[in-house]
Amino acid sequence: MTRPASRLAIAVLASGRGSNLQALINAVAAGTLDARIVGVFSDKPGAIALERAQDAGIPTTVLLPATYATRAAFDAQLFEAIDPCTPDVILCAGYMRLIGKREVQGRRGRLLNIHPSLLPAFKGLRTHAQALAAGASEHGASVHYVTPDLDGGPVIAQVRVPVLAQDDADTLARRVLVREHILLVETVRLLAAGRLALNGDVIRLDGAAISTPLQLTANNDFS
Ligand code: GRF
Repeated sequence: MTRPASRLAIAVLASGRGSNLQALINAVAAGTLDARIVGVFSDKPGAIALERAQDAGIPTTVLLPATYATRAAFDAQLFEAIDPCTPDVILCAGYMRLIGKREVQGRRGRLLNIHPSLLPAFKGLRTHAQALAAGASEHGASVHYVTPDLDGGPVIAQVRVPVLAQDDADTLARRVLVREHILLVETVRLLAAGRLALNGDVIRLDGAAISTPLQLTANNDFS
């Protein structure tokens, strides 16, 4: 992706709490992220993410899946609502529905997701419990391009968090979440600067292919 002509326009899809959305809102408001959030879209009318968006003056749209005959019909309507906002990036941040193949393929390289695990480990739900059950010594979060495979697209960047002996799923989730917010903002910052591109399955940073995901360091930059 080359640097957008104006500030990076982001559409956010969220189904729940919206703390990742809030991290982006805060970074934009603080002037540390050169981007604008052009809309927040949800499948859950009660999502706290919607309140966060409204408080920040961001337009919100809710579509109820139960009122559509098929998932494809829902997705088509969702993107009919999103596309007029002309986002450079569509970010799933706690969006709890799979997006159909047709919509994903038409937006390759523009559709991203944040997932709370070190992908490819622990796809799907309850990732913190999965990591503990597997005896993992490290857990974390990943920002990846969305493909039709669940949590399966090329991974741009990750943050690693040690698993502590006394951790349960909640304590681990809390520690990962703090770091995941920074991971998301820093990754979006790369996008906003036009430094990232997806060619086929290859991610390029400043034009050079990266063979492994970028890693967020303790200083909150990437190695
Ligand atoms: C985050 O852990 C995110 O990685 C995952 O769902 C959770 C959403 O949290 N996809 P929030 O709604 O952003 O607070």
